[in-house]
Amino acid sequence: MREPFDNLRPILVTLNLSVLVLIFCFGYLLIGDQVVAMFDQPKPMDMDAYRASAATAAAEDVDRIENGIHVQSGLIYAEGFDIVRGTCTACHSAKLVTQNRATREGWEQMIRWMQETQGLWDLGKNEDAILSYLAQHYAPEEVGRRANLDVEAIEWYVLDLE
Ligand code: HEC
Repeated sequence: MREPFDNLRPILVTLNLSVLVLIFCFGYLLIGDQVVAMFDQPKPMDMDAYRASAATAAAEDVDRIENGIHVQSGLIYAEGFDIVRGTCTACHSAKLVTQNRATREGWEQMIRWMQETQGLWDLGKNEDAILSYLAQHYAPEEVGRRANLDVEAIEWYVLDLE
């Protein structure tokens, strides 16, 4: 027995499908990107590129100079720097150097002490350049604090309150 609208059924089914497809398309436009991203696998790290950039950064770091200071060692970057870095960071950190202050004679004594007791080798012709560098850039600080006021020299005056 035929029900009413039976001949409309194929059209209704097609319409229903079309509406579903439309809804799906709208949904996809709205949140499709997020849904796809949810199923995205994290990409494996590109180790070669990472290593290359790290190596360049490290190489730049080793030679970086900022405000006249060689950043990696903390040594003042000036004439003699290369010899001092090459010689004086072989056994210990450059901090031992940068934290010390001495005259040329004082530095010479420290070098002799290291030669006698710590196995520092004869510096040969480099010694002069090293001592000049140290004496110039790591000299004792002459004025540690403000000089005392010279009370006698001050011209006092009477404060007139009228
Ligand atoms: C053969 C290894 C060696 C070399 C190279 C070397 N030192 Fe040293 N130095 C030492 C040792 C070991 C000490 C003692 C470290 C400690 O006490 O921890 C020392 C200590 C020092 C100190 C501290 C001294 C103190 O009285 O505390 C200074 C400053 C110093 N060295 C400067 C230099 C300078 C400048 C050079 C480059 C000319 C240099 N060192 C090269 C081994 C060396």
